[in-house]
Amino acid sequence: MSALTDSPAWQALSAHRAQMETIHMRDLFERDPERASRFSARLDGFLLDYSKNRITEETLGLLLDLARQQDVAGWRDRMFSGEKINTTENRAVLHTALRNRSNRPVTVDGSDVMPEVNRVLAQVGRFSQAVRDGAWTGHDGRQIKDVVNIGIGGSDLGPYMACEALKPYGHPDLRMHFVSNVDGTHMAETLKKCDPATTLFIVASKTFTTQETLANAHTARSWFLEKAGDEKAVAKHFVAVSTNEAEVSKFGIDPENMFVFWDWVGGRYSLWSAIGLPIALAVGMDNFEAMLAGAHEMDEHFRNAPPESNLPLLMALIGIWNANFLNAHSYAVLPYDQYLHRFAAYLQQLDMESNGKSVDRDGNRVDYGTGPVLFGEPGTNGQHAFYQLIHQGTRIVPADFLAPVETQNPIGKHHPILLSNFLAQPEALMRGKTAEEVRAELQGAGVVGAELEALVPHKVFEGNRPTNSILFRRLDPRTLGLLIALYEHKVFVQGVIWNINSFDQWGVELGKQLAKVILPELGEASAPAGHDSSTSSLIEACRE
Ligand code: F6P
Repeated sequence: MSALTDSPAWQALSAHRAQMETIHMRDLFERDPERASRFSARLDGFLLDYSKNRITEETLGLLLDLARQQDVAGWRDRMFSGEKINTTENRAVLHTALRNRSNRPVTVDGSDVMPEVNRVLAQVGRFSQAVRDGAWTGHDGRQIKDVVNIGIGGSDLGPYMACEALKPYGHPDLRMHFVSNVDGTHMAETLKKCDPATTLFIVASKTFTTQETLANAHTARSWFLEKAGDEKAVAKHFVAVSTNEAEVSKFGIDPENMFVFWDWVGGRYSLWSAIGLPIALAVGMDNFEAMLAGAHEMDEHFRNAPPESNLPLLMALIGIWNANFLNAHSYAVLPYDQYLHRFAAYLQQLDMESNGKSVDRDGNRVDYGTGPVLFGEPGTNGQHAFYQLIHQGTRIVPADFLAPVETQNPIGKHHPILLSNFLAQPEALMRGKTAEEVRAELQGAGVVGAELEALVPHKVFEGNRPTNSILFRRLDPRTLGLLIALYEHKVFVQGVIWNINSFDQWGVELGKQLAKVILPELGEASAPAGHDSSTSSLIEACRE
């Protein structure tokens, strides 16, 4: 047994699970009319209702004991203060400094990072303003109309998701594009829509060594030069965001046109840094700063709110209960807001790259489940695709439902229809439908006898399926900042409880290494040696 599973708090939760196994949430709601207010928490315009989980006050108390036992508060303070908690890379974890609107000093290796953070933010502000108001033009003096962000993973998912989420705040004459995939189709289809004289490329890569991003950046540069014909014109059309100045210069981007960030910003936590440049370009610096302020608000809440009303802590603990004690292996995030259509994709990297680990901080194999398989689609699309399994499948899929009370596009009855679905789904998942209810319904519809009995089991919903409902006033920049930081800290707390390093990502390396071996082999005359027979014959089939 590991220290965690052997610990008093874990053992107490395991024993409690046995008591909870036979309890249905329907009964919990019937017994306690105050359940919704008892199991919900608010933060100015933001409501988390977690009452539709298989929990009681006792469950929550035991989960809070677990958080105390695992020293979540201590780790949280270590992270915020710049301690090198990412031990396998010997790095601090300070995305919170990027949105530290209080400007309190934050030190890494003895020096305050805030002056540098503010300097780069100001640079992002000046540059985005110049592009937006036409002071920064292309090489022939024409205004920039298309911005193409070239990046992958954290250098793509965050800014892409945020630009989509904040579209109503977007500049009317700037079109944003995001190219990530090394599949040439992604770049080719994007370039078809762009005029080189009015296109700005942002090459975004923390390391500036990522194969996909460099291949795409070289292709964009060749395309641009072919049309513009003049090396000198590159300076007006290519900027870089990176921690690696040497590689940026080598690529041919003037360091003047480079926006830096630092090794203490993890890729999947980097949208608050200059990696957020596309966001500032799309929605303006004021709105980007409002997003930073929203995230900072959540940081302050996470640091100061009591555990019983601490949103990220509660979400994390409920996730642990569902995953480790109710045996749920997956997790759905279901935003009822079309503008959040990339939110689940963004969260997949945040959650799965952070907590997809099987050894603890000391390198010991864990004997408990860690990060869940996260997926999601905007409601109501998901309802007509995979919700069947969530309602009636054999596996428990805990789900977060998110929705804005106000829509940005009040057209006819669309928003009330959307909200009614947002409200109905968690209700259905919690309550289910009993055999008696199904029988009564079928009888009412005139179905009787053997036909009725044959249908009953197919129409029963067990219910008792856990969900969280997250309701916010409106999807504005502040709320988006709050929301992202909420999930970041949720993932952080879970990593602390599982005693894993949530800030490295060695698991992405092996595939990269093997691809480098295979790439030249695809062009070789004879079949390559050293692979398994499956890989060899697939290589052979590609070569044919
Ligand atoms: O694939 C892993 C990863 O290192 C991510 O963590 C990162 O966000 C992405 O690649 C892109 O890396 P970079 O910004 O250095 O190009």
